[in-house]
Amino acid sequence: MTAGKTLKEALSRLAAAGVDEAELNSQWLLAEAMGVPRLNLLADPSLPVPAAALRKFNKGLALKEQGLPLAYILGWQDFRDIRIKVDKRVLVPRPETEELAGFAADFLRTRKGELSVMDYGAGSGAIGLWLTKEFPKLRVKAVEKSARALACAAENAAALGLAARMEFIRASTLQGLSANVDLIVSNPPYIPTGVIPGLAPEVLSEPRMSLDGGGDGLDVARMLVNLAPSKLKKGGALLLELSGGQAKKLMDALPGKVWKEKRTHKDLNGIERFVFARIK
Ligand SMILES: C[S@@+](CC[C@H](N)C(=O)[O-])C[C@H]1O[C@@H](n2cnc3c(N)ncnc32)[C@H](O)[C@@H]1O
Repeated sequence: MTAGKTLKEALSRLAAAGVDEAELNSQWLLAEAMGVPRLNLLADPSLPVPAAALRKFNKGLALKEQGLPLAYILGWQDFRDIRIKVDKRVLVPRPETEELAGFAADFLRTRKGELSVMDYGAGSGAIGLWLTKEFPKLRVKAVEKSARALACAAENAAALGLAARMEFIRASTLQGLSANVDLIVSNPPYIPTGVIPGLAPEVLSEPRMSLDGGGDGLDVARMLVNLAPSKLKKGGALLLELSGGQAKKLMDALPGKVWKEKRTHKDLNGIERFVFARIK
């Protein structure tokens, strides 16, 4: 069996199951099963698929047909220039969050002295891991409510050789946490509870705790806005990822007395998704 023929058959199976991006999903699964770069399959469709690779591929395909996110099947997700282990314990990091991490880095580059960051709701640890890698002296506190997610983040830090500059803290609020950091960055759960049942199967296989942001989706974000100022150094900032309408709503809730500077940023699709606010 050749790679080209295997991919063709897989494409019709996934399309029949109503899977989005059936072609890309098939290519990634086959490349992973064969242990070759995805582009090799496209460059040479006559590549033979060994029997063991075909068995592995068929298992992956069956999981994809059942609606499992591709990253869970592969066991990893690329985030900017690092590869992160992901599984059912954590949300799969999204492209928008790579942008959030980029804004965090932009802010840190304006700061002097010993830099520190809190990644609140760390999940797989993606944001904090990448910042720790990017800034050789940075120290990061990864805070997370889910013990299982926190374990995943710590495993990622160890695998990437970043654990010495990261601390892993289990908490469900900023209240009582001891911190004095330059930046609190967070991609909190922000989906309104009522919207969750209608989400795609891929999203519904991610931890509910990583999605559910309460009635209007802003429970965790509001807590951060209220409690962050006492955890920030002078001139420190809070940087959040939200959905479009929420960013504007949260901006209006930021008291000007506390926050000296506040603005939203659009994502690459033009959606006003990120809130940046800096204290005096
Ligand atoms: C949208 S996910 C983001 C995960 C990761 N930071 C990312 O961007 O891929 C939100 C994370 O916040 C965690 N979380 C939910 N409520 C929390 C709370 N009250 N305190 C701390 N973490 C919370 C969830 O378990 C989940 O890992």
